[in-house]
Amino acid sequence: MKRITVLVCILFTLKVSAQQNITLSSAKFITGDSPSYKELSFSDNSWANIKPMSIWEEQGYSDYNGYAWYRFHFTLPSSLKKNSYWKDSLRIIVGKVDDVDETFLNGVKIGQTGSLPSDNGGYAGQWDVVREYHIAANSPELHWDKENVLSVRVYDGGGGGGIFNGAPVISMMDIIDGINVTATAGDNAVITIANQLTRSVPGTVTIQVKDGMADKITSSSSQNITLPALQSFTKTIVLKGDARMEISATFKEKNTGKIKSITITNKYILTPPAPLTPKINSAKVAGVRPGSPFLYKIAATGQKPLQYSVANLPYGLLLDTINGVISGTLTDRGDYPVKLTVRNSLGKDERTLTIKVGDLLALTPPMGWNSWNCWGLSVSEEKVKSSAQALIDKGLIDHGWTYMNIDDGWEQPKRAADGTIIPNAKFPDMKGLGDWLHARGLKFGIYSSPGTTTCGGYLASYQHEMQDATSYASWGIDYLKYDWCSYGDVYAREKDTSLAAYMRPYQVMQKALKAQPRDIHYSLCQYGMKDVWKWGAKVDGNTWRTTGDITDTWQSLSSIGFSQTVQYPYAEPGHWNDPDMLIVGKVGWGDQLHDTRLTPDEQYTHISLWCLLSSPLLIGCDISKMDDFTLNLLSNDEVLALDQDVLGKQAQQKLKKDDYQVWVKELEDGSKAVGIFNMSDKWQNIELNWQDIGLGKTEKVRDLWRQKDLGAFGDIFKTRVAPHGVTLIKVT
Ligand code: GAL
Repeated sequence: MKRITVLVCILFTLKVSAQQNITLSSAKFITGDSPSYKELSFSDNSWANIKPMSIWEEQGYSDYNGYAWYRFHFTLPSSLKKNSYWKDSLRIIVGKVDDVDETFLNGVKIGQTGSLPSDNGGYAGQWDVVREYHIAANSPELHWDKENVLSVRVYDGGGGGGIFNGAPVISMMDIIDGINVTATAGDNAVITIANQLTRSVPGTVTIQVKDGMADKITSSSSQNITLPALQSFTKTIVLKGDARMEISATFKEKNTGKIKSITITNKYILTPPAPLTPKINSAKVAGVRPGSPFLYKIAATGQKPLQYSVANLPYGLLLDTINGVISGTLTDRGDYPVKLTVRNSLGKDERTLTIKVGDLLALTPPMGWNSWNCWGLSVSEEKVKSSAQALIDKGLIDHGWTYMNIDDGWEQPKRAADGTIIPNAKFPDMKGLGDWLHARGLKFGIYSSPGTTTCGGYLASYQHEMQDATSYASWGIDYLKYDWCSYGDVYAREKDTSLAAYMRPYQVMQKALKAQPRDIHYSLCQYGMKDVWKWGAKVDGNTWRTTGDITDTWQSLSSIGFSQTVQYPYAEPGHWNDPDMLIVGKVGWGDQLHDTRLTPDEQYTHISLWCLLSSPLLIGCDISKMDDFTLNLLSNDEVLALDQDVLGKQAQQKLKKDDYQVWVKELEDGSKAVGIFNMSDKWQNIELNWQDIGLGKTEKVRDLWRQKDLGAFGDIFKTRVAPHGVTLIKVT
């Protein structure tokens, strides 16, 4: 035994001498909370083992929310310091933590991300943020060449919980860590190399432009520079045209040879401009209940002015021939096919719209805007109107985008004496806002929760459901997003974990909505708990969230979007799975907005996948600041038509390889939409055998983003797909 121990020690030492960092790939773990868990001297022998790479729900702690602790034991070899040019500070990357962490080294707090329920302002999760903490190398908290314990106290407010997305890593900071290389692409690409150190740093900058599709470097240049203390170097690369280009910049530090680099893709445009002749883009079917107000905007592109007419409009409905809005009320159940015609001086387009008067709403998934991913709790009437006006002015309304939904943050802290909910000062006239939107052919949405407060801490509907639904109806509300927040307390008090207990709050609001004299789209937002897709339709849910909140990263987008597999059979006209809202354009979840962190290819993937999945499409950005790229991304009628297809079938994942996936959606006209998604961060040449995805021997293919026929393909379709990008085709 002794000999083996010695051998292990030697191996360990050898490994350490060449080591630049330490990876902590397993930990001790316990649910619950105690201040003693952070101490170096605490014995965690009886705790369970856990891996920090995936949430605790996937490691035997399903449905656990609340506090839990991770303890990582490690020796900190002084060779780490020796190997580093700059012996200043140690960096501990804990990774992502769902939702809040407090991190301690040998009992001393070294960082926190997110805020805990006990903190000022209450709980605010930051599940998608990598935690990186720094400590001076000579700090007494560091025990060089001895045992150390990194303890992470985690608070999970709901959904997944714990450390995930990679093991914690410990390394020394180096000069290169003080250099920041960034790049942005608008009309031109601008590269910035910023020295954040108080000393000058010499090195070499190399800039390359590459045509990734052709796999060809189109320009390359290198230059030696010295970055003065706290100064930046910038370079502008002139981009010509809309073609896709990769721009990369590398800075190589002279003394250590270490590099920092970045590669970005320009915001390349795929959707061709809409024709000048009229083209109708709105859904071919619309549902309304007998006696409820009907509102349908004929979405059409083409050179303005456009003239709208409708043949066979049933008694009870009227067309506004100036703005193309059909409104009114129908009392008799049944299908009413009407012929829409849109004309201009260059020609006309026609389409049959079937108005179905019955029990079902949302015969195609809702398309519109929601304030959350953009403004968070800072939403106001002014902000809703500015995005609504921009949706009209920029022409998104002509592609079928109609809902304008206020998310959390609109309620006063107290109800009126009779219990009526009152909007806060940011929304001085809810009914006025509803009228303003309806007059423009837009629909009006609002948000609440079944608990006493919403997720943002605003007043919610608990025990006031009927009153609230009545207020909504009086304001002209067409859409209610109904969350779960703070209902967890009611649920915990009742100590009933049955499915019936989960469904109860949604049934209470279901009854209240049904009692209203107007149709209110019912959007359940409880993150997929208890497989909501299996029972959402039973509580009249039109859409139901299947996952936790999305954020603007590839990790978030891909883990949510590509996991929508088992929900496939539950999507149908009237009922849709909801993998959360769109994260394109300027987002921010508060007052400060930033450009989405998704690459252009990731954004094409996002819209393609959401359309294939028949998801609600809710833009989550400031439309008034929308750039041409985002507008182009959201205006492709052939892509949006997949989402709005009247058959209402969600795409199925037909092929899943390590590096790519293929999803197939059946369409009303018998053709199929196929999304070939590159999951890797490298270009891929993919050869798809039609038969592997259940298609025939020869297929006629159309590229939907470019709106271009590609011709007929025998057994195999070959495509080259960008990193995290997509080829989206329709095959017949
Ligand atoms: C979350 C919900 C978000 C947003 C937020 C408001 O629970 O998933 O989409 O509505 O609440 O506080």
